[in-house]
Amino acid sequence: MKKSIIKSTGMFVPPNLITNHDLEKILDTSDEWIKQRTGIEQRYWIEQNMATGSSDLGFEASKIALANAGWTAQDLDFIIFATLSPDIMFPGSGCLLQAKLGLDSTPALDIRQQCTGFLYGLTTADAYIKSGLAGKILLVGAEVHSSGLDKTTRGRDVTVIFGDGAAALCIEGVETKKDAGLLSSVLHADGNLAHALMTELPASRLPVRFPADIPFDDPRYFPVMDGPAIFKKAVRMLPKVIKESLEKAQITLDEIDLIIPHQANMRINQALGQFLKLDDHKIFHNIQKYGNTTAASIPIALHEAMEQGRIGKSGDIVLFTGLGAGLTWGSLIYKFL
Ligand code: ACO
Repeated sequence: MKKSIIKSTGMFVPPNLITNHDLEKILDTSDEWIKQRTGIEQRYWIEQNMATGSSDLGFEASKIALANAGWTAQDLDFIIFATLSPDIMFPGSGCLLQAKLGLDSTPALDIRQQCTGFLYGLTTADAYIKSGLAGKILLVGAEVHSSGLDKTTRGRDVTVIFGDGAAALCIEGVETKKDAGLLSSVLHADGNLAHALMTELPASRLPVRFPADIPFDDPRYFPVMDGPAIFKKAVRMLPKVIKESLEKAQITLDEIDLIIPHQANMRINQALGQFLKLDDHKIFHNIQKYGNTTAASIPIALHEAMEQGRIGKSGDIVLFTGLGAGLTWGSLIYKFL
């Protein structure tokens, strides 16, 4: 059976750098609060009032990943696009990206799993490769949060944490006897907690999708989060799911070279490290620079970790983990060929 091998990565963030001090000017917050509670120092947002969708950011990241793999878009036989901020209600951003890549028949699938979009996406890619349905896959995680945030003090708990960005992976099915590729994947979801982090409107479940009696500055048009509840859930569930994935792969935590967690909050990831009794250098952090880029967060971190030489040599083992809206959470273990 073929193994799913990461051939290359690429990432892109828009050039508009927003520091915590910039946010102090538009809502009641402080650099100190944001850094102390989340670890975030800055994030990138698209130029406001510019027509930029998540497929545009995904396109930039994809061009880099394709060039790094030595592939052209025509080599692809499947595209997976993970986002919670699709360019339009439908069709999905995967189709829009496919067209931007100059393709007109390559299948494209959207994944709506928020912060675990990459985990669900890589698992889906692996299943397509192992079943023989695809051989060369482009997996993209991309978000444009900034155009959908409540940039008033009312929305400050959410607005200060989200950044825009994208990353892409070229994944190839490779015939090899070596122990490599996705060693294990454990995914979970609990829809009973959907209300803990959601954007409720517009809603097809309502008789009228854009109700005339609800003004467009109603909080339900913006992401609303029970931050403390999600924080507690993450600190409780991530160690458990990591253990499940280690057992499934039949390896120990000592054998993991680097943990790349979803970058939602530096404190969550530090607490995870303490719980697992890991040195901090075994956990990758870049939330300081980008904030929470949701589906793009883990692949951006992977790209940077590989560029910094912290992971990527033959035999290196990386563990990806995260928890986010849905709720959804999971842990994947990948070994480099
Ligand atoms: N600036 C200043 N004060 C603020 C801000 C802000 N940006 N946001 C909230 N506050 C205030 C609150 O109003 C509150 O004030 P009060 O005590 O007077 O009522 C106080 O700070 C504490 O608020 P908490 O919500 O308890 O703060 P907490 O320490 O929990 O930090 C945070 C909030 C950063 C959101 C944290 O709860 C968190 O990171 N939660 C998890 C987020 C997460 O992992 N989400 C999942 C991924 S995202 C996805 O899936 C799309």
